[in-house]
Amino acid sequence: MWNINPAVDSGHPAVMPCELVRRCLVCSSTPGDTVLDPFAGSGTVGRVAQRWGRRFVGVEVDPGHYATAKRRILEGTGGGPGQLFAGSLFDGEGEG
Ligand SMILES: C[S@@+](CC[C@H](N)C(=O)[O-])C[C@H]1O[C@@H](n2cnc3c(N)ncnc32)[C@H](O)[C@@H]1O
Repeated sequence: MWNINPAVDSGHPAVMPCELVRRCLVCSSTPGDTVLDPFAGSGTVGRVAQRWGRRFVGVEVDPGHYATAKRRILEGTGGGPGQLFAGSLFDGEGEG
């Protein structure tokens, strides 16, 4: 069993702990792989993916959460946000 503290960010009500994502990500991908999160929320997967040398494509339908994700990814990597799309992967409203 994993014992991981919950994560909190004022910009999103359901932030996933980075450590939880990290464990899954390093077990299931190698550096240079591309990780897709179609429900990016606050961008935890993107932040961890870029930190561990993976490419990232994320989609988030809520503009406020999109802004939070962009901020957290930039804070976490000091670099670009990868490809983070504002909109829904499923209804063609993405606007890059
Ligand atoms: C449980 S949250 C994800 C939390 C994320 N793992 C994190 O650490 O912040 C799910 C997210 O999916 C977004 N969402 C729901 N339907 C969507 C859709 N059709 N396309 C893109 N994003 C969607 C919601 O706005 C919400 O931010």
